[in-house]
Amino acid sequence: MNLDGKTVVVTGAAGGIGECYVHAFAAAGANVVATDVPAAAEAGAELAQEAGAVFVAGDVTSDDDWAALVARAQDEFGRVDALVNNAAVYQGLGAKRPLTELSTDDWDTVLRVNVRGTWQGIKAVVPAMRAAGGGRIVNISSSTARMGVPGFAHYVASKAAVEGLTRSAARELGPDGITVNAVAPGLVSDEATRALNSDAYIASAAGGRALAREMVPDDLVGAVKFLASNSGGFLTGQTVVVDGGVVFT
Ligand SMILES: NC(=O)c1ccc[n+]([C@@H]2O[C@H](COP(=O)([O-])OP(=O)(O)OC[C@H]3O[C@@H](n4cnc5c(N)ncnc54)[C@H](O)[C@@H]3O)[C@@H](O)[C@H]2O)c1
Repeated sequence: MNLDGKTVVVTGAAGGIGECYVHAFAAAGANVVATDVPAAAEAGAELAQEAGAVFVAGDVTSDDDWAALVARAQDEFGRVDALVNNAAVYQGLGAKRPLTELSTDDWDTVLRVNVRGTWQGIKAVVPAMRAAGGGRIVNISSSTARMGVPGFAHYVASKAAVEGLTRSAARELGPDGITVNAVAPGLVSDEATRALNSDAYIASAAGGRALAREMVPDDLVGAVKFLASNSGGFLTGQTVVVDGGVVFT
C-alpha cells in the first residue's frame, strides 16, 4: 500500500467521507489534490490546511474545471497517479421519494453529477496517467445498487451505471497500465446519511450486518487506499462492497 510521493486526486473532498480519504492519503505520504464545488471552497481550504493537501474548487461536470485541476496537479507535483471519484449528489437528494414522484430534473441532476461527472474525471486524468505509464482510478458506487433501496431510484440507477462504467473503462484503459475499480459503501453513519434517514433506519441497517455495528467513514479507507496503491495493481474492473457484510457478491 505504498503511496509515498504519489499524487492522488479526491473529488467530493469536503463531504463527510471525502474528507476522510484526504486525511488518509495525506497520512500515507501521498500528495493530495482535493476538490469540491466552489460553494464548499472555505471548508475545502480548511481541510487542505489541516491535511497538508492542495484544494482546487471545481464542479465535476465541468470539463474546464477538470482541465484546471489536472493542470494544477501537474504544476505542483508533475504527475497524477490516482483518482478517487467520490463526488456525488447524495446529501442533496432530500427526502426519499417514490420514483413516480421524482421529476425529470431530479433524475437528470443525479445522473449528470454521479455518472457523467465520474466519466469526465476519468477522461480528464487519463492523458496524465498515460504519460506517467499507468494509474489507479477508484470510483465510488453504493451497496444500494445491489440492494435496490426504495425511494432513491435515480441515485441507485446512477451507482449501477458507475459500476458499468468501471468495467468498460477497465477494459479500455488496461493496455495503458491504468486500473479502474469501484468501492460500494454500505450505509455510513455520517452527516449526509443522518440528514436523509431516521436514527431507527440507521440502527436497523447496522443490525442487519454480519459485523453488527454502525459503519463510519474510516471503514472505507483500507479498500480505497489498496485500490489506489501499487498493491492493487492486478485488480481491475471490480466492485468491492464494503458494508460490514450485508450484500455478498
Ligand atoms: N454516506 C453513505 O452512507 C454512502 C453510502 C454509499 C455510498 N456513498 C457515496 O460515498 C460518496 C461520499 O458520500 P458522503 O456521505 O460524503 O456524501 P456528501 O453528500 O456528504 O458528499 C458528497 C460531496 O460531493 C460534492 N459534490 C456534489 N456535487 C458535486 C459536483 N457537481 N462537483 C463537485 N463536487 C460535488 C458535495 O459538495 C459533497 O462535498 C458519494 O459518492 C456517495 O454516493 C455514501
